[in-house]
Amino acid sequence: MQRMRRMRADARLRGLVSETSPDVKKLIYPVFVTYGNGVKEEVPSMPGVYRYSADRLGEVADEVFSAGIAGIMLFGIPERKDEKGSGAYDANGVVPRAVAFLKEYFKKAGRSFLIIADICLCEYTSHGHCGALCGGEVDNDASLPLHAAAAVCAARAGADIVAPSSMMDGVVGAIRQALDAEGFINTPIMGYSAKFASAFYGPFRDAADSAPQFGDRKSYQMDYRNAREALRELSADEEEGADILMVKPALSYLDVVARARRRTDLPLAVYNVSGEYSMVKAAAANGWIDEDKIVEEILTAFFRAGADIVITYHALGFARRLREGKE
Ligand code: PBG
Repeated sequence: MQRMRRMRADARLRGLVSETSPDVKKLIYPVFVTYGNGVKEEVPSMPGVYRYSADRLGEVADEVFSAGIAGIMLFGIPERKDEKGSGAYDANGVVPRAVAFLKEYFKKAGRSFLIIADICLCEYTSHGHCGALCGGEVDNDASLPLHAAAAVCAARAGADIVAPSSMMDGVVGAIRQALDAEGFINTPIMGYSAKFASAFYGPFRDAADSAPQFGDRKSYQMDYRNAREALRELSADEEEGADILMVKPALSYLDVVARARRRTDLPLAVYNVSGEYSMVKAAAANGWIDEDKIVEEILTAFFRAGADIVITYHALGFARRLREGKE
């Protein structure tokens, strides 16, 4: 008989031999920034998550600072949408303005965190698709320069990392080329490399008002029946010059994360998406699960599967509870 229980008898012993633990320094907190002034409104389907106007970002910045979270990922909600998503590559758009506000705030506060700009068109297009349309179809190659322009805009405003999320083929390469041409040779790209067409994005589309007005995203986001294809997507991003790869969503895709971990030596991120967050919040609000314990278990699973970085709406709550536990 192997006495496996020998090493489980005492909490310190368990701690000593534990293989993984979630680390706030490895977490990224997604933030929705909207137009206007003085806005802080809760997203109805995502309790505890808010849309902020740029001038109110100081509140969330303070929390992220004190939590020790690595950074935030910005999603913009523009005042006006149009066919070509021009708000995404407007130097005065919501995201560049938010980045500029935060940079000023960092200067005054004397500390900072990473600002990652999500690069996509869906929040900015009237049709809600992630690229430009041509004859009712999302035109891959016509969308690339628009993404490249959005990335250059974000970098110019001061974003530390850009993260293209549209699943257009060649988008990482197109952005790398444009950033280099504009002198942003040191701005890293985090590719949403294997992003699946998923029902788990539902609450996000409420939050960002970005649901497609017709059809779905299956002609660009991945089919969730395919794991080998996900590895090809990851390799393609790597070859195009991505600095960080990502698998998204997270919970139902940990097999892909584990396989990606064996395949690449690049840093690997997972995106614990809106629906995954809201399911936990809803069950916890009903008293059916213990939110704190569930969140810790979920975050641990991401790192155990091989993720280096976790993008999660739970970041602030998790960090807050860790701090309270220590005090
Ligand atoms: C934009 C984008 C989406 C998410 C991140 N970037 C929505 C989508 O693809 O429809 C989803 C994030 C989440 O659900 O938390 N392309």
